[in-house]
Amino acid sequence: MSTPDLHLPTIHLRPPRNWINDPNGLTFHDGHYHVFFQHNPHGPDHTGIHWGHHRSTDLVTWEELPPALTPTPGGDDADGCFSGNAVSDGDRMLAFYSAYRTDRWWQPIATAESRDSGLTWRKHPGLVIPTPPEGTSMYRDPYVWRQGERWRMLVGASVTGERGAALLYESPDLVDWQYRGPFFADGPDVDGGWTGWECPQYATFGDRGLLVVSLWDAVAGPRSTRVYVGGEEAGRFAPTGHGPLDHGPDLYAPALLHAPDGRWLLWGWSWEARDQQWSHEAGWAGVLTVPRELSLTENGTVRQQPASEVLGYRGRKVVHATGWSADDDLGEVGTAFDLTARVRPNSDAPCGLRLETAPGEHLDIVVDPVAGELVVDRDHASLDPRAHMGRYRIPLSGQRRSVDFRVIVDGSIVELFLESGESLTVRCYPTGPTPWRLRAFGEPEHIVDVWELDAGGRRTAIGHDELHTAA
Ligand code: FRU
Repeated sequence: MSTPDLHLPTIHLRPPRNWINDPNGLTFHDGHYHVFFQHNPHGPDHTGIHWGHHRSTDLVTWEELPPALTPTPGGDDADGCFSGNAVSDGDRMLAFYSAYRTDRWWQPIATAESRDSGLTWRKHPGLVIPTPPEGTSMYRDPYVWRQGERWRMLVGASVTGERGAALLYESPDLVDWQYRGPFFADGPDVDGGWTGWECPQYATFGDRGLLVVSLWDAVAGPRSTRVYVGGEEAGRFAPTGHGPLDHGPDLYAPALLHAPDGRWLLWGWSWEARDQQWSHEAGWAGVLTVPRELSLTENGTVRQQPASEVLGYRGRKVVHATGWSADDDLGEVGTAFDLTARVRPNSDAPCGLRLETAPGEHLDIVVDPVAGELVVDRDHASLDPRAHMGRYRIPLSGQRRSVDFRVIVDGSIVELFLESGESLTVRCYPTGPTPWRLRAFGEPEHIVDVWELDAGGRRTAIGHDELHTAA
């Protein structure tokens, strides 16, 4: 029997094998939440990209369906069906996507529809937007939504002046699109380089709006995410502030779903933070985050928390600890768990929680009262040098004495959420076999609760067994 891959997440969405990247086409349609994603069903590399597909009625139990969109040989999307979104329009679901060919620098906008809840798809002939406007040097990733009587679309771009841009189109009928100019553009963000925005997304809260973009630059390629807070003035987005959507190194291309109960839900792509050869050996790469609820607080800050449905994966409670002692062993936690903590430093010394996975191998969550920050330190999170290292910070605003947070660990993905709303996503690849243990260090006063996470039988794959049989 082969040893289980402890890095492969269990409750997070991804197929059992092969490559995934961006979440796409997030829609509620026909009683289902649909989560599509960039997917190579044939290997662990970013090539021959399809739209993979999961759907769920409750965000807990998920069915994996056959890929929705497949590149058409010789067609406009011959080299990949790149990112986009979908809308529910009466009895059909309509997908807008970026048609990728290696012989074009831009990705025109193509469409496809499904009338059977996403089981089968028919591509529309031709392109809804064949060419980008003048002065554009990168162009892809449509995001379509309904606003009042009209449909609107943002497309990610880089425009003259090396600025990232979300270009705005409008349509009465989802067929004829009028270009209205940049909804918003900003940058450049890189010295001597240029910036482009991928996967622009827009959430509205009354007359306020959040514009979420993924920053791509000529030097590093995909880099990080940003959220602009603002509102609309004369058909353009006018920001009042911005910040990182996530404080970790491993979240990109987040996408939004407007749920029927009014919530804005968000999934992101967490890429591998290890040597490519290692993911080849593992046979898979990339994972989607848990669904997060994105909201805007009364004082205008952005708040992200796991969607309440994520509680549905909690199993047995494995730790309940309240304490105040040096080097406190809180017990075994397994490889997939959901942790809530209140940590209150007793001195100026850093203190926090340590996930210990093998002797000398640990991931630290540190509250540094002097620097006024929470640090996630993965410098020692893997004994294997092929894993990326680094220390990542969230500034702690105000005069907080105690820090409340929640951490979801599932194999190699770690998602941390401060109660105040900041998130930090990081990947780590412990070599230590189970059991993983949790410790408190630096004598904090703490309250920690940990539940095992378990997908149980809540994952099924239908209609494409051939993709899931052993290679
Ligand atoms: C973002 C991105 C998109 C593109 C897709 C290709 O990660 O580069 O801009 O449409 O991935 O897979």
